[in-house]
Amino acid sequence: MKHEFTSASYQERIHQELDKLGISLELIAEKKLPFYAEAEELTVAEVDANGREFQMTPATATAWHAMKQAAADDGVVLEVVSAFRSIERQIEIIQYKLERYMPMEKILTLSAPPGYSEHHTGRAIDINTPGCMATEEEFHDTEAYRWLCTHAGRFGFTLSYPRDNQLGFIYEPWHWCYQPDQA
Ligand code: DAL
Ligand code: ZN
Repeated sequence: MKHEFTSASYQERIHQELDKLGISLELIAEKKLPFYAEAEELTVAEVDANGREFQMTPATATAWHAMKQAAADDGVVLEVVSAFRSIERQIEIIQYKLERYMPMEKILTLSAPPGYSEHHTGRAIDINTPGCMATEEEFHDTEAYRWLCTHAGRFGFTLSYPRDNQLGFIYEPWHWCYQPDQA
């Protein structure tokens, strides 16, 4: 999967999709949302019990496997609930919420616009642990979250959306991103 993600046509496509969803470029500029290109190289890092595949960049997959094993060695189970997401998938997620009459202002506290989700990079992972509702704030109160706070940095993962983050997203204790330069 390779494309000219920095080209004018790629940006133009994102702009068209934003326009269709009713998200203005002014709003994105106001929120200071960073632009993310889709990953060029992905590998299937996990397959869940239902056969659903989770893709990450090869370096992220390696770091994730090492971190998951280290957690398991400490008796903590880490599971992936979302990893790479395409532009199309991000559009579907927002459309789903719009169809359920969620106001855009609220949607944009939960989901990034297409082109602006860290999940496009293949380096962001939503993590859960058994007994916890996925992608809910209750993850904050788990042993898995405490383990990540202590150890994730060692594997190059950082929490992207802490409480009161500047991008206007809700607190996402489950969303961690592999930042190789910070490993
Ligand atoms: N939930 C995060 C902000 C995303 O949609 O990328
Ligand atoms: Zn996420």
